[in-house]
Amino acid sequence: MKKTLNYIKPYKGELIGGLVLKFIGSVSELFLPLLLDYMVDYGVPSKDINLIVVLGVIMLVFSAAALLGNIFANRLVALWAGKMTKDLRQALFSKITYMSSLGVDKFTAPSLVSRLTSDTYYVNQTVARTMRMGVRAPILLIGGIAFTFLLDWRLALVLAACVPFVTLAAVVITKKLFKAFSEVQQKGDAVVRAMQENVSGVRVIKALSQTDYESEKFKVTNKKLADNDLKASMISSLNNPVINLILELALVGVIALGAYLSTSSGTLIAFLSYFTLLVNAMLGISKIFVGLSRGLASSARIEKVLEYDGDMPIFDCPEGDSQNAIEFRDVSFSYNGKGDNLSGISFSVKHGQTLGIIGGTGSGKSTIVNLLMRFYDVDGGAVYIDGKDVRTYQSQALRQKFGCVFQNDFLFADTIEENIKYFRDISKADFDKAVRCACAEEIISEREEGINYRLAQKATNLSGGQKQRLLIARALAGNPEILVLDDSSSALDYATDATLRQNLAQDYSSCTKIIVAQRVSAVKNADLIIVLNDGEIAGMGTHAKLVQNCEEYRLIVQAQMGVEV
Ligand SMILES: Nc1ncnc2c1ncn2[C@@H]1O[C@H](COP(=O)(O)OP(=O)(O)OP(=O)(O)O)[C@@H](O)[C@H]1O
Ligand SMILES: [Mg+2]
Repeated sequence: MKKTLNYIKPYKGELIGGLVLKFIGSVSELFLPLLLDYMVDYGVPSKDINLIVVLGVIMLVFSAAALLGNIFANRLVALWAGKMTKDLRQALFSKITYMSSLGVDKFTAPSLVSRLTSDTYYVNQTVARTMRMGVRAPILLIGGIAFTFLLDWRLALVLAACVPFVTLAAVVITKKLFKAFSEVQQKGDAVVRAMQENVSGVRVIKALSQTDYESEKFKVTNKKLADNDLKASMISSLNNPVINLILELALVGVIALGAYLSTSSGTLIAFLSYFTLLVNAMLGISKIFVGLSRGLASSARIEKVLEYDGDMPIFDCPEGDSQNAIEFRDVSFSYNGKGDNLSGISFSVKHGQTLGIIGGTGSGKSTIVNLLMRFYDVDGGAVYIDGKDVRTYQSQALRQKFGCVFQNDFLFADTIEENIKYFRDISKADFDKAVRCACAEEIISEREEGINYRLAQKATNLSGGQKQRLLIARALAGNPEILVLDDSSSALDYATDATLRQNLAQDYSSCTKIIVAQRVSAVKNADLIIVLNDGEIAGMGTHAKLVQNCEEYRLIVQAQMGVEV
């Protein structure tokens, strides 16, 4: 909670203002029963109208102060808590945006989503409630007991005696609730995960007629959340009755003792009023605890993300060969530390050359790209760009070198222009060059709105090949030093694919290109082709050389081109 509370600091003024108003309101509230006691015990028996009127006016002033103080304080707190939560959400969002892929893998995307949405909401609720009641309830509790002592210490002792019991009940319930709410939040993550998968995979689910199956599967996830929610509600529903019971018992004690001691009716009425205040105060405090258990669980989840420092630091590493645009030197890597996903990977590419990577599914092609862009750090060996280890680059400087189209990359629900520019300062000449090279001109020209044509979410109003062409245009528009196309021309027809490669060679000759593909035709003309097999290099060289020396490559060529080589 400590880190979360730091977000309060900028709004200290509002906070203090709110707390002062709350203080004034609560103290004013405390005097009311005492004034009532005087009125009943002194004003009424003596029929002293002046005293009654004076006391009545004072009571009115105190009531107004109590009312206005509480209303304005609550408004200030709501305003302030809203601002603080906004800042917290922003910080969390930034942290997630800059988080390494390793971090995202660790937390999982759905859990990050629910931390950003529901957890920040619970923190907001908790902080606001604590501020609303955190001043009022203790003042009413301590002041109420003090005033009752002033009225009659013997009766007050009965009320005071129940405080430890109420506290004990609140602490036990809160402890149980903290655990229950942590479980609810975990199950909530599972619901978000199921939801995300269903929304993004809606077409597959429908195409495979798996709607009923998914619906049944969701029922189970949903039930787990509902069960945990119910458990938490059952525990929290114990709170009010238990505390009420303890206090009602105390009240019976007060009345019995009052009758025995022949206490005045004014004092007994005041006692009843203080009793109501005390009940409210204790319920308020226990509600703070109940809320805190949920808020603390949420804030712990948020802080885990904010404090996550698994992100990649900048290291001091020896330099490589500056002649090479890209070099992998004996690289090994594992995503989960159990068995290498890549091992013994060594190759180098000169500036302006094209590297083709080919291999079966799961052979490690995209992993090479991930390591090159330092989405993950190597476990062994080193990756160099322009002769410098990628671990020595500031992440911004490193990523700026690249223009990428990832496997299953996505376009935003925005215009074609914005999707290609993507908030970068791209000149018209660079824009047009990229569009032309990516064979995307016709996508624009055949639409009435041209570059202002709006894409639907996930670009569902474009064909697969059209999407790929726009994605390639986006990657090229920034005139990158290194272009990475990870399986990003697979939806293009052969003729367009060939034109694209020709355009790339002509228009972006100084750019180093990495083309990951399943098709031999896409990598055939590359300066260097790597054939990957199960995380290892099975062969490396030009097409001609590989055809001669590499059995795996020969088999791929044979299968795709239908020729004996
Ligand atoms: N984030 C990840 N966490 C754990 N394992 C992963 C992760 N990403 C990939 N892998 C595993 O690493 C191996 C290599 O995956 P990679 O994505 O590099 O394959 P690929 O050659 O690009 O395959 P494809 O042609 O299907 O795209 C696979 O066994 C895959 O299951
Ligand atoms: Mg891949």
